Order: sequence, then structure tokens, then C-alpha cells
Amino acid sequence: MSTEKNIPVAKGHWLLGSLLEMNKDVLGFIGEQRKLLGYIFYVDVLAFKVLVIIRPDYIRHVLQENNKNYVKSFSYEVLKLFLGNGLLTSEGDFWRKQRRLAQPAFHKEKLVEITKQMSLSSEKLAAKLETVKQQQKEIDITEYMNEVTLDIVAAALFSSNVSDKMEIIRNSLTVANEFAISRIKKPIGWPLWMPVPSNLNFRKAGRELDNIIYSFIESRRNEKEKPNDLLSMLMDAVDEETGERMSNLQLRDECMTIFLAGHETTSLALSWFWMLMDEHPEEENKLREELKTVLNGRTPEFADIPKLKYTKQLIEETMRLYPPAWTIGRKSLQADEIDGYKVSPEQNMMLMTYQVHRHPDYWSEPDKFMPERFSDENAKHIKKFAYFPFGGGPRLCIGNSFAMMEMQLVIATLAQRFKFRRTETHEIIKDALVTMRPKDGIKMRIE
Ligand code: HEM
Repeated sequence: MSTEKNIPVAKGHWLLGSLLEMNKDVLGFIGEQRKLLGYIFYVDVLAFKVLVIIRPDYIRHVLQENNKNYVKSFSYEVLKLFLGNGLLTSEGDFWRKQRRLAQPAFHKEKLVEITKQMSLSSEKLAAKLETVKQQQKEIDITEYMNEVTLDIVAAALFSSNVSDKMEIIRNSLTVANEFAISRIKKPIGWPLWMPVPSNLNFRKAGRELDNIIYSFIESRRNEKEKPNDLLSMLMDAVDEETGERMSNLQLRDECMTIFLAGHETTSLALSWFWMLMDEHPEEENKLREELKTVLNGRTPEFADIPKLKYTKQLIEETMRLYPPAWTIGRKSLQADEIDGYKVSPEQNMMLMTYQVHRHPDYWSEPDKFMPERFSDENAKHIKKFAYFPFGGGPRLCIGNSFAMMEMQLVIATLAQRFKFRRTETHEIIKDALVTMRPKDGIKMRIE
């Protein structure tokens, strides 16, 4: 065993620790501390010590090599209020069983059917944007990306019979999301049982979504011809070991999880993508050339996806600079040691995707947008876990192929018709909450 090394602590206020700095600009603060303290350090937040890790092999240790010793950290508790015990928030044997049941639904060949819906939703959005363009209106691109990704994931889950419910779904998800964010920002708030407006609104939104999801599950049980969507696949999945299927409650939790995890992150990646395209006209022209060669104006489909190579590189580079999941939280179960650093039991930690993705040790000119980093040849030289927008190890994002295909199809449809140009010149502030969002959206006009 190697000799024990000392883990430095970020200097902070005697009582608050670095709470104020973390709340004000967590990415900037951790970036500064990285320069001072290196790959691994503690940050005090009130009475808690959070271990911050910014090194690929250490992250690999936590997510992969010794993953059994690490569970999701306290920040996932807030998500649990809404998602219940779904794939994102559950642990141990229960999670393993659920993952086994859900995994086949996300295999690439199973997604062929869903890519049709992805193209359809993209076309629907394109028609809407055409009208906006004629009206010369300024738009917030994040709202439109949110709409299309929500449309896609709803259809992927429940097929086409969801369009009349979209308004309620959208509103309820927004309320729930804002509630989660406010609780993460202000951990000392009203207890959940208090009938204050924020709690009541949150519960009402939850009830409305529950009603919709349960009604889909009930009516699906009675249908003879089941559509080929995620809900059918989850309902049909039988556990090989026990012969059991999922209960209604379990189906509800998984649907809610896929709903939320399946659109928010993708919508943010797409939004950052359009901002980068506005900033990099040369790369945008190359994108258009690829689309012209592969599609020549037609709607993209499943078979086109492997040919849209440069489009994929652009998306990968977008998620390097702007990873929607900017950090991954874990907590140790037993004591552990990482490269001579002692990890205590019950230690909360932040694996810093954003900082690793921009670390000069692993990337040349780390802040520069350079999609050629992800060409077939160059990608071979990327260190393992120097790039992990979808996490890694057994808890790797189950929807990663879904998301990549979706983004390629949405981009290929829209970029063939429109250019989005920012109407403001100031640098967009990155708001790192549950996910990394552009603060105040991204205002654009359509050309
Ligand atoms: C750009 C898009 C996306 C990004 C950046 C992303 C990122 C992530 C990350 C980092 C994790 C791991 C979290 C952890 O280890 O604590 C994760 C898990 C998960 N994601 Fe995604 N995701 C995306 C799209 C999707 C989509 C489209 C779906 C579903 C349709 C989805 C469903 C899930 C689920 C269910 C989990 C939990 C998996 C498990 O623990 O077994 N995600 N995602």
C-alpha cells in the first residue's frame, strides 16, 4: 500500500466555510481552487466537508473500479421527492434489477422506431420556427429545445396519444424542476409537510403528472395491440431471476425518471450547441456541407445517423465545454484509499466533469472549441474518464445512444433550414444547479 497523502482544504470562512463562494459561482470557485490545490481537495460547506475530485483515474476508481463502495450523494435526495425510486435515484440490488429490466429497451436497434418520432418532432418544430422567422421575433432558443426534447421523450414513452396532455406535462415538470432547484439553493427551507404555496404547488404538479402516467399504464394494460414504445417494453420486461414484472408504482417511477432525465439534459446540450454555432461560423459551414452531402434537404432518418460524423463531433465538443451534468455526486460507504489519499466512510464527493473536461493536463487549449478532437483518429488518444458527459461505470447514462441520435436528428433537421444568431453580445453566465443552464436563456433571431 502507498503512504498516506494529505488532502488539502480550500480556505474559507470559519463558520460558513466556502458556502457563499459555492453558491455564487461554483464552477469559477472550484476552478480557482484547482489551480491552488490540485486534483483532489476538501471544500467546507457549513459543517460538512465535501471532497472535490478533478482527475480521470480517481474518477474511474469511484465510478468503475470500486463502484460498489459508492452510492449517490445527498443532492439526489431532492430528486427522489419527485422521481421516487427510479433508475436514477435507486441503489443496490433493487437498482440492479431495474437496470436489467430496462436496459434492452435502450439498445440501439430498439431505438429505430423512436428515431422516426425524433424526426417527426424535429419537423414539427421546424414548421413552428418557420412562422417565428417570418414574424422576425426574438426567441429564447432554450424554450424551443425544451419543447422538442420533451415532445420526443413523451412520444418515446407513450407513443402518439400524449399530444393533448403536453401542456399539463410541461407545466408540471417546470414547477417540479423549479422546486428542486430552490431546495438545492436553499437547503434550509420549509419542511415538506407545511402547507406553504411552494409545497402545495409542487404536490399539485406531482399529482397531475401521476394521474397522467397512471392513466397511461392502466389503459395500456387493457390494450390488445400494444404500441412499440418504452412503456410497452418496460411493462413486458420480465426479470429472468424472479419471473416478476414491474408494479404500477415502479412503472410510474421509471416513467417519471425517463421523462425528466430524458429531456432536460438533451435540451441544454442542444441550446449550448446553437450558441456555439453562432460563435463559430467556420464550423457551422462545415456542418452545412456535411448535411448537404448526406441529406441534400431531405428529413434525416435512422440510416443517416452513422453518416453524420461531423455533426456528432460538434455535439461531443459542445458537451466537453458545456456538460449538462456538470458534476456527479457520490458518497462513500466504507473507508477507501485513492492513490494514497484516505477517504472516510460516508464522505460526500463531487466528481467534477466540467473541470476535467477543461483541464490543461488532458486537453490542449482546453477552452477552445475544436470539434476535430473527436475525429475517429484523435478520439483514440483521449484518456479514459477525461471525457464523461454521460457518467461511467455501471451507472452510465442508460439514454446515451438515445440522446446522441436525438441530437443528431434535431440538429440535422434544423440546421438545413435555419441559422440562429444571438441578439445579445454579453457572455452567457453558466448557472450550475442540478444541470448546467444558461442563466436567463439564450436570446436569438432566426435567419
Ligand atoms: C445529453 C443528454 C444526456 C446527458 C448529458 C445525460 C447525463 C447523464 C449522467 C451523467 C448520468 C449518470 C448520473 C450518475 O452517475 O449519478 C445519467 C444517468 C441516467 N440518464 Fe442520462 N443523460 C442524457 C440523456 C438521457 C436520456 C435521453 C435519457 C432517457 C431517455 C436518460 C436517462 C438516464 C437514466 C434513466 C439515468 C440513470 C441510469 C442508472 O443509474 O441506471 N438520459 N445521465
